[in-house]
Amino acid sequence: MSPANGVPEWAAPLFRRGRLPTGWEQVLGAVPRHLFLPDLIWPLDAGNGLYLTVDRAQDPAGWTAWADADVPIVTQWDDCGHTGPEPGSLPTSSASEPSLVMEMLADLDVHPGHRVLDVGAGTGWTTALLAVRAGAGTVVGVEWDAEVAAAARGRLAAANVHARIVVGDGGDGFAAGSPYDRVQCTYGVLRIPPAWVTQTRPGGVIVAPWRTRFTHQGAVVELVVEDGAASGRFIRPAEFMQSRAERQVWPSHTDYVPHGDGWPEGTAESSTELRLRDLTGMFAFVIGLTVPGVVHTVENDTAWLYSLRGRSWAAVFFEDAEVYHQGGDRRLWDEVQAAHEWWHQQGRPDHARFGLSTGPGGEAAWLDDPGQPVAEASTP
Ligand SMILES: C[S@@+](CC[C@H](N)C(=O)[O-])C[C@H]1O[C@@H](n2cnc3c(N)ncnc32)[C@H](O)[C@@H]1O
Repeated sequence: MSPANGVPEWAAPLFRRGRLPTGWEQVLGAVPRHLFLPDLIWPLDAGNGLYLTVDRAQDPAGWTAWADADVPIVTQWDDCGHTGPEPGSLPTSSASEPSLVMEMLADLDVHPGHRVLDVGAGTGWTTALLAVRAGAGTVVGVEWDAEVAAAARGRLAAANVHARIVVGDGGDGFAAGSPYDRVQCTYGVLRIPPAWVTQTRPGGVIVAPWRTRFTHQGAVVELVVEDGAASGRFIRPAEFMQSRAERQVWPSHTDYVPHGDGWPEGTAESSTELRLRDLTGMFAFVIGLTVPGVVHTVENDTAWLYSLRGRSWAAVFFEDAEVYHQGGDRRLWDEVQAAHEWWHQQGRPDHARFGLSTGPGGEAAWLDDPGQPVAEASTP
């Protein structure tokens, strides 16, 4: 976990693979992540998937080891409504997993002199990395939470890094600092905000984790801006906290399936060949793309799907025999099964064969080529 030759251990493979060009060693050495962390942190223990509480005052060596480790570290729970040392319910600000951050920065391809918008500035660490790479006064970070932003400003100043942090919805970008050469976001978005496109100069690059309503397991997309529109491919799966402006209001089960004896009329039981594991990973991403406006939850081997457009639903029981019931105008599980067949017919494409285009006409995902849309364009 400890840094070697100024480069943290987790970064060494990135340099060996040539992902990070010369110059990034100095950047990482100038602004190590620990400079941007508070004394009380909640690192994710990858061994058991749980968040630990680490207090610098009580365990300085442990704090330093976690601060330099390749794990995400939560720095705020529950929109600041959380007190005490125990982990809260919902992580609302964090220092992202360092190797993932650096992969995104490599995708962004930032050079000295670039003007950069860092959306979701959080602790200020990514803003600092970008500012040391691009140069003093060239980077603006946008952060939703005023307290988080104030702490980031303080840490940037203490590290002698000259970058601006503004408070606001990152979806609005920051017009006063535009045009940008690069826009990076480190929270998950359901659609690319039009402001990022209009505030980026032609040829500029946007890198952001994009996701669907169906699953938090989204993918990083890299878009190039031309003629007032942006287009590009997904690169790799990534799960980030969602935008505070796009939080899901969870549908009420009884609005879909009223209480009563048995299933509502017209909901015959059918069997399915799909398995619970199909609702995670790559196919979950495909469901999100091709069966739009649907959310799902899994409890005790039962998956419930709800349409956000009307009151259609499906219940799928994966224990023993795989059977399902569905109701409403849309036949949601039939749509999922059709999506699975389509995905197989296309050769089970992974993220890299999918892409996204966005512009004045709306946003659309595609397979292989922008001429082959797989999802309806969402109007701006
Ligand atoms: C995962 S943290 C990223 C922190 C830092 N950039 C990093 O990579 O270590 C995401 C940050 O985005 C902020 N955020 C979430 N939604 C936002 C929005 N709509 N506008 C601006 N900031 C937002 C959160 O408050 C949080 O601090």
